[in-house]
Amino acid sequence: MNTKVIVGIVVVVVIVAVAFFLMQPSEPSREPTPTPAVKYSLSEVAQHDSADDCWVIMEGVVYDVTDYIASHPGGESIVEGCGIDGTFIYDNRPMGSGSPHSDNARALREQYKIGELE
Ligand code: HEM
Repeated sequence: MNTKVIVGIVVVVVIVAVAFFLMQPSEPSREPTPTPAVKYSLSEVAQHDSADDCWVIMEGVVYDVTDYIASHPGGESIVEGCGIDGTFIYDNRPMGSGSPHSDNARALREQYKIGELE
């Protein structure tokens, strides 16, 4: 076979292979791009300091626990944390057992997270 024909075939094969490779749909990235957390100031949190509008800061995270107050096993005591950094009272429950909340409570509060303290 003529050398030019062979080179031609090789070039065509390479072009087809490259085209095939480029046409493959790109892998969707498995890791979702993390969205930056919404930041709230202490004074902004302080405006939500009542039983019908209750934001609590715990360990630098801001939670809106308004909808949880009615089902809180510790009753209205949770309202003491509304509008403030409630980390200490959450961890120590000075008005109750004096002990930290359970792992269950820690898991439960996650659904009320709305952002972070700036
Ligand atoms: C910072 C404000 C809060 C205060 C002052 C508070 C206080 C209390 C108190 C006094 C009790 C009764 C048991 C005891 O006397 O120790 C209790 C129980 C409980 N609280 Fe809270 N609480 C707060 C926030 C929360 C939040 C944000 C959650 C979850 C979303 C939660 C979930 C629970 C649960 C599940 C119990 C049952 C016992 C346990 O699992 O530890 N509390 N809390």
